[in-house]
Amino acid sequence: MTYTALAAAAYLHHIELQSSNPERLAKFYGEAMQMQVAKQGEIYICRGPQRRLIISKGTDKKLGLGAFACRDGEALDAMRARADKEGLGPQDLASPLMDRAFAVTDPDGNKIVFGLAKADPEGLKGLKGPTQHLTLATHDPEAIEKFYSGKLGFAVADRVRKPNGEVATIFTRSNHEHHTLACFRSDRTGIDHHSYEAGEWNVIRDWCDHLATLDIQLMWGPGRHGPGNNLFIFIVDPDGNWIEISAELEIIHDRPVKEWPHAERTLNLWGKGILRS
Ligand SMILES: [Fe+2]
Repeated sequence: MTYTALAAAAYLHHIELQSSNPERLAKFYGEAMQMQVAKQGEIYICRGPQRRLIISKGTDKKLGLGAFACRDGEALDAMRARADKEGLGPQDLASPLMDRAFAVTDPDGNKIVFGLAKADPEGLKGLKGPTQHLTLATHDPEAIEKFYSGKLGFAVADRVRKPNGEVATIFTRSNHEHHTLACFRSDRTGIDHHSYEAGEWNVIRDWCDHLATLDIQLMWGPGRHGPGNNLFIFIVDPDGNWIEISAELEIIHDRPVKEWPHAERTLNLWGKGILRS
């Protein structure tokens, strides 16, 4: 196993969401997630401290792309060479947020990008919450694992397994964070949710107080996930996308893959779980 993505210290730099009403969605992220919003041609670019989101015109709740930044040019070269060798046909991609970006397509048709982060504008203000992980919905978690782990060199952190042996959830990482890319078995494909890492419990409190001023209710949580051991809250944007704000996500240096039962308690050690399948 060659951990090319892990060696690249790749981190989730931004995602792109499609929307039938990009203006409304951008306004929501600007307010709720404390991001500056700029219209650039046909897209909206939303930026807060260490968090970025692109919104383009399209189908509600459809992932435009998920973009990972590599630590340097050498690591990006290795990612591209790996993608090429694995027959993924990496394609150059012009990105407003990254240099030397290339895209590949996963078995569900999700566009996944690797590149080098362009410098963020100075003076971005807001609560702590870097873009941290992307979670997909899929009919076939094993195929997703084969792609991200087997072909791109993400490392599997944990798996959730049903009593019949079927894998329900896979958590994979491309740096020391427990997961940067995960997937849930589902009756649909595309995005399940994306997450911002607030780091500490008290910052989640501050996010909740901020969301309350906007009359945005929590959809789930506060709770603590089993895999990753992270504290979480979830809210929903006007298109129906799930947004997670997390803290205390496990940092992995070296440990075996752990398997978890497919149970409410795995999803939330504290209370109600939302099982996707
Ligand atoms: Fe998550």
